[in-house]
Amino acid sequence: MTYYRRIGDIPPKRHTQFRTADGALYAEELMGQDGFSAASALLYHRHAPTALLGADDVDEPPGDGDGAGRDLEPNRPLLPRHLRTGDLDGGGDLVTGRTVLLANADLRLAVVAPTEPSGLYRNATGDELVYLRRGALRLESSFGVLDCREGDYVVVPTGTTHRWVPTSPAGDPIDVLVVEAQGHVGPPARYLSARGQFLEHSPYCERDLHAPTEPLLADDDPADAGPAEVLVRHRGGLTRYRYAHHPFDVVGWDGCLYPYRFSIHDFEPITGRVHQPPPVHQTFAGPNFVVCSFVPRKLDYHPLAVPVPYNHSNTDSDEVLYYCAGNFTSRRGSGIAEGSISLHPAGFTHGPQPGSVEAGLGEERTEELAVMVDTFRPLQLAAGARACEDPDYAWSWAAGANSGATTSR
Ligand SMILES: [Fe+2]
Repeated sequence: MTYYRRIGDIPPKRHTQFRTADGALYAEELMGQDGFSAASALLYHRHAPTALLGADDVDEPPGDGDGAGRDLEPNRPLLPRHLRTGDLDGGGDLVTGRTVLLANADLRLAVVAPTEPSGLYRNATGDELVYLRRGALRLESSFGVLDCREGDYVVVPTGTTHRWVPTSPAGDPIDVLVVEAQGHVGPPARYLSARGQFLEHSPYCERDLHAPTEPLLADDDPADAGPAEVLVRHRGGLTRYRYAHHPFDVVGWDGCLYPYRFSIHDFEPITGRVHQPPPVHQTFAGPNFVVCSFVPRKLDYHPLAVPVPYNHSNTDSDEVLYYCAGNFTSRRGSGIAEGSISLHPAGFTHGPQPGSVEAGLGEERTEELAVMVDTFRPLQLAAGARACEDPDYAWSWAAGANSGATTSR
């Protein structure tokens, strides 16, 4: 993120004495990416953020994969997969209640339907991109509060201490997709000027990005006065730290590194007379993956246009599509529904369901809403994928021509 923000109380000059009303020094923290050669923020704590009291190793849930490819099954035989995420058990919190579905050395993809607040957490391996398909959540962090609603992408930078609080009315569903990256997530470079301003051709811009607007001083609350436990995801697994002071004690911060949200509904689709290629939908870039948004839009308007997508071979990517809302006309008959996730791997040609090309001729709009994650290294299957896979999906394009389709797994 390259957009400068300044929140709360900070001294006029960095690295100079900044004191509380009773004369004590605030504890300055520089949080910086890429060896302090990229985006950074300066935060001013009431207490030392370093006062560690204890640390405990925490076991990783079995079958989730660990970002290094261990504990995962390769996609063999190589097949398209349909994961019915609605079949998974919900509950728990947004951090520890995740069901990991797909993973490789660059990222882990998980879903979660949280019903309770999470504990304090930070990911030390990379940024987390959280997409809120249904419901409402509040992100509380050392940077302040973000109230998030249906359709929000939330970028939580590496090392941000935070917690997630469900804010939907009791009983209303909350459904979330989490991308745990092994690096930083942000707007595609081609959308930005050399100095980081969004260019005119970008489908969104700075006005669409929302960050905390005031400090969150949770340590004022006796319940949060400390000590405080923070669960940390790192390359070796999980560690639970115990700190003398609650991390939400920042009276002010400034810089270009902070959590922010962007609504998929603010993504302005690029349309044309004939079908536009997937890169026009790109929303974020991460290390060895991209994220695209398919939003309600006017369909192709050449008089002879074929609005339903062509068959395609994405030769260097595995394609993951999260179906968020709409009727997905090009996939009618495949079993795909809201909440479904499809995986179309590199090496597999795929396209619309039989009959949907003809049925779509003359259509002028689509109301479909979907999030796509394309990975440039093959994805493997975590235990959660095997728990909700539709075994018939791979044969759904054959439209009854294949009565004896089988797979060895
Ligand atoms: Fe595709």
